[in-house]
Amino acid sequence: MSLSKHTDAAFQKCINPDCAAEFDRGQALFKCPECGELLDTQYNWDKIAVPKKLRNFGQRWATRDSPLDFSGVWRFRELLDFCPDEHKVTIGEGQTVLQQNCAVAQHLGMKADRLYLQYEGLNPSGSFKDNGMAAAFSHAMMVGAKSCACASTGNTSASVALYAHSCGLKCTVFVGSGRIAFGKLSQAMDYGAQTIQILGDFDDCMRQVQSVCSRLSLYLLNSLNPFRLEGQKTIMYRILEGLGWQVPDWIVVPGGNLGNSSAFGKAFLELKQLGLIERIPRLAIVNATGADTLTDLVNNKKLVWNEGKVDQAIIDDYYADLTARNFSPRTCASAIEIARPVNLKKCLRSIDVCNGVVRAVTDEEIVDAKAIIGKYGLGCEPASAATIAGLKHLLDEGIVEKDERVACVLTGHPLKDPNLTVGYHKDRQGKFSNPPVEAPNDLEEIIKLIR
Ligand code: F0G
Repeated sequence: MSLSKHTDAAFQKCINPDCAAEFDRGQALFKCPECGELLDTQYNWDKIAVPKKLRNFGQRWATRDSPLDFSGVWRFRELLDFCPDEHKVTIGEGQTVLQQNCAVAQHLGMKADRLYLQYEGLNPSGSFKDNGMAAAFSHAMMVGAKSCACASTGNTSASVALYAHSCGLKCTVFVGSGRIAFGKLSQAMDYGAQTIQILGDFDDCMRQVQSVCSRLSLYLLNSLNPFRLEGQKTIMYRILEGLGWQVPDWIVVPGGNLGNSSAFGKAFLELKQLGLIERIPRLAIVNATGADTLTDLVNNKKLVWNEGKVDQAIIDDYYADLTARNFSPRTCASAIEIARPVNLKKCLRSIDVCNGVVRAVTDEEIVDAKAIIGKYGLGCEPASAATIAGLKHLLDEGIVEKDERVACVLTGHPLKDPNLTVGYHKDRQGKFSNPPVEAPNDLEEIIKLIR
């Protein structure tokens, strides 16, 4: 991606091609100080000893008694080489599985062996965020940060709280009051974060946290942080690894603040440039209909990356209209209840790189898909289930073929949001509800009930 004036192996660069300012990797900036656009982490690859073949990374399984080889993030360290080993942070993130799931595939009418579920709920805090935090906290340690903060729909706050306490950083998390699932809120409190509930939604929290961080010089851990997104690239490396280093036809991911989709496109672009893969998979990003800014902007307003010259007027008009209508997003998938995604432009770049598509699915579709993933798979939280609901749309439309190989990223653990799951089953809210049966305390009566 880079022809740079920077001679260091890694540096930061503004994504706006008219600015393209470069900064040292040792700075904690989070937005371009010159034009306010997003920053990328970039590499001078000729200064990095990247393995010649992806499968060489697999050799690190043999030396997993070393914490950096055990980490599902740092196992791939040459592909995110911005931090010396002595500052690298790991608490065992990225021990995930790529599950081939024939039953869900058949439910969707796909060829049985073509669907894979990348289960990120196995991470230490129960979501994919830990991949990003391992990288971002390493950068925080490298720059000597003492205190940190984030805004969150829940999982970021849980992950930040966990990593902050293991790194000895003070930590404040901002969440929208009543907008986050209880599993996640319980984690933030239990891991010792100061939790500030703002009377507003995620977008309000995101705005406030940026001001707080710049006023009080706190280290920001949202996905505006380009080093965090480097960690999230490894989710894609592990999908390739799970497929014997083959590239799938599609990656399907939920879209909220659009950090994952941004990171995934960058991961594949870099692998292609390095000659480590021959082709780039297509990317499908799935919004909830109650928080569908990306879908609306891409599918209806025709917003495109345009080599970095994104039509800002379309975005400004769109957000002005949201403000005029006093719009606040609403979906049962609270993790992706976001109307002003901060990584929008990087996500447009990923759509360009991966020939991507965007869809929105209803809450009803999300909860039914979640029940199917629970019944036939490892389960997941509501936002993660948007992938299977979105895939169903794409199969029905003939955009994804029944025999294409698809990997859906299940971003979070089912226990993150038990209230929603219990409500769905107990109160018979959906097609796949599986309510408990009341029984008298009597053996014969109980036996009659067993099916
Ligand atoms: N899935 C889950 C479980 C999430 O927690 C999030 C985001 C997403 C999907 C969306 O990912 O932002 O990369 O598009 N959660 C953030 C949070 C916003 O604060 O926990 P994205």
